[in-house]
Amino acid sequence: MAKNFSDRVGEYQQRVDARLDASLPSADVAPQRLHEAMRYAVFNGGKRVRPLLVYGAGECLGVDPDLLDAPAVAIELIHAFSLVHDDLPAMDDDDLRRGKPTVHIRYDEATAILAADALVPLAFLVVARLERASDAVRTSLVRLIADACGSVGMTGGQSIDLAAEGARLNVAELEHMYSLKTGALIHASIVSACLLCDGIDSERAAALDAFGRDIGIAFQVKDDILDIEGETDVIGKPKGSDAKLDKATWPSLFGLEASRARCDELLHGALARLDIFGADAAPLEWLARFIVERGR
Ligand code: IPE
Ligand code: IPE
Ligand code: MG
Ligand code: MG
Ligand code: MG
Repeated sequence: MAKNFSDRVGEYQQRVDARLDASLPSADVAPQRLHEAMRYAVFNGGKRVRPLLVYGAGECLGVDPDLLDAPAVAIELIHAFSLVHDDLPAMDDDDLRRGKPTVHIRYDEATAILAADALVPLAFLVVARLERASDAVRTSLVRLIADACGSVGMTGGQSIDLAAEGARLNVAELEHMYSLKTGALIHASIVSACLLCDGIDSERAAALDAFGRDIGIAFQVKDDILDIEGETDVIGKPKGSDAKLDKATWPSLFGLEASRARCDELLHGALARLDIFGADAAPLEWLARFIVERGR
């Protein structure tokens, strides 16, 4: 195995793309327009951070990558669904995603809603098909991903996000929203590898649980910074979208400098959680730094 995780990032991205391709219905199969839109939502240049976290946590715990493909694919499908809905006129009303027209612009609103809807059951089908895992492990994965996706996870966070437009949230309220809308799927990516490993003691499980929570919040703080500091052609989505909607964000409420400091604080907290794993944590360390240092 190559020494640095960074050498394997491209391989893992190709790996999950191949598994996503195999899981999605062909665009030739009826209803063609719906299947084409589902594929458009998934294959348009995402960073695949959540699958990378699944594989990175799996490396840290010595899990066979063949077992990790199912949660990697399932969580990326849920993520793609969340982005399609997030961009709709009823939500953030954005017309650009990953440098291309959003699904409702490229197709139409009804097709975007339905394409996103159809990605959710597909995600659970992928987990159901993980025959190499025991029934108990598959059930645990379904529960993990369902919670992370649902009203106590991403969807709940999106609801809070919409209700918080124009509101003066305090840090705890803001980060609660972040931990749901963005953190839940990132945390689930890490925990899915824990569920698939041969056994993990409570101290290590708690360390990865806390790591997942910290980097999940950091991911959204950085996303909000990039909405201000990034350029549309680099971030692939319309710069200034948050300000346009008066979104409650770390930079809008507490300033850019405090936001950068919070990102660093979360990163260092997250890295400290990895100490217990020694050199085995190198993939997760690389990913945590990537999340905070990324330019898109
Ligand atoms: C964007 O997520 C939405 C948030 C949760 C902030 P990503 O930045 O992971 O988006 P892609 O998948 O790489 O396009
Ligand atoms: C969205 O946060 C989080 C999701 C659950 C999709 P944002 O609305 O900031 O994500 P972007 O900036 O549009 O990707
Ligand atoms: Mg949003
Ligand atoms: Mg948005
Ligand atoms: Mg954003």
